[in-house]
Amino acid sequence: MKALVTGATSGIGKAIAINLHRRGWELILTGRNEKVLEKLKKVFGGNTEIIKADLSERNEVFRVYNFCKDKNIDLLVNNAGYGIFGKFDKTDIDDELAMIDLNITALHILTKLFLRDFKKRDSGYILNVASLAGFMTGALMSSYYASKNYVIRLSSAIYEELRREKSNVKITVLCPAPVDTNFNNRAGVNFSIKPITAEYAAEYGLKKLFQGKFFALPTLSTKICAVGQRFVPERILSAIVYNIQNAKKVDV
Ligand SMILES: NC(=O)c1ccc[n+]([C@@H]2O[C@H](COP(=O)([O-])OP(=O)(O)OC[C@H]3O[C@@H](n4cnc5c(N)ncnc54)[C@H](OP(=O)(O)O)[C@@H]3O)[C@@H](O)[C@H]2O)c1
Repeated sequence: MKALVTGATSGIGKAIAINLHRRGWELILTGRNEKVLEKLKKVFGGNTEIIKADLSERNEVFRVYNFCKDKNIDLLVNNAGYGIFGKFDKTDIDDELAMIDLNITALHILTKLFLRDFKKRDSGYILNVASLAGFMTGALMSSYYASKNYVIRLSSAIYEELRREKSNVKITVLCPAPVDTNFNNRAGVNFSIKPITAEYAAEYGLKKLFQGKFFALPTLSTKICAVGQRFVPERILSAIVYNIQNAKKVDV
């Protein structure tokens, strides 16, 4: 069995790669950090392949797919992503558009292309890494939350199409709350609640994927929030999220 993992150089993606390696999977790993990719290739050995790519560039996403398309991939892990903190009018537009290209466009392209291949042979797995943020409106991290809403809605629609076709192709969304990775440094925020480990998020996401479940909500509090938010009026929920995000602000 062979998996493509995006964002494999750090955090949740790296933990997923390590977990899959332990389960005996062959790996194709991608990210921008060539040094880390080379190190992982050495550690995993065997048939591990690496491909350096900036997935915020559309042609690079197609290049990664073309690299993989004849290699009998069984599992696509769309994990690469990041967040940007700040009021919508203040955040950097180029950084934000690159984030949308990575969190949404790259995931969209890879999901579509691999789904076509998986459906042809009626087997394969897709693990899309969303976030608890994908259930809500997220003042102060507006476009990040919106990008993860897209990931959940897109994946959910695909899940339903596959279910109606009685397909053997499986799709799961991993929706963690804070995970202890480099995410916060990149986004420029502090944790306001205790994070889970990347290893736990990875193990939980893969467990739900192989069980054929759609949602992977790694803790009791994420399950309560994901269900509970449906019963809270939008304006109140937005105000709560604003306060949570505001508490994450890094004092400078
Ligand atoms: N940590 C959390 O609290 C949390 C919670 C919920 C969901 N998530 C989601 O989990 C996923 C993984 O994040 P993480 O927490 O593990 O953060 P992380 O430690 O910062 O890892 C991010 C990964 O994405 C890759 N990446 C970033 N920009 C890229 C680009 N332009 N092209 C290709 N790869 C790129 C990075 O690799 P290179 O730098 O080598 O390119 C890195 O491997 C993200 O989708 C994030 O939204 C995180």
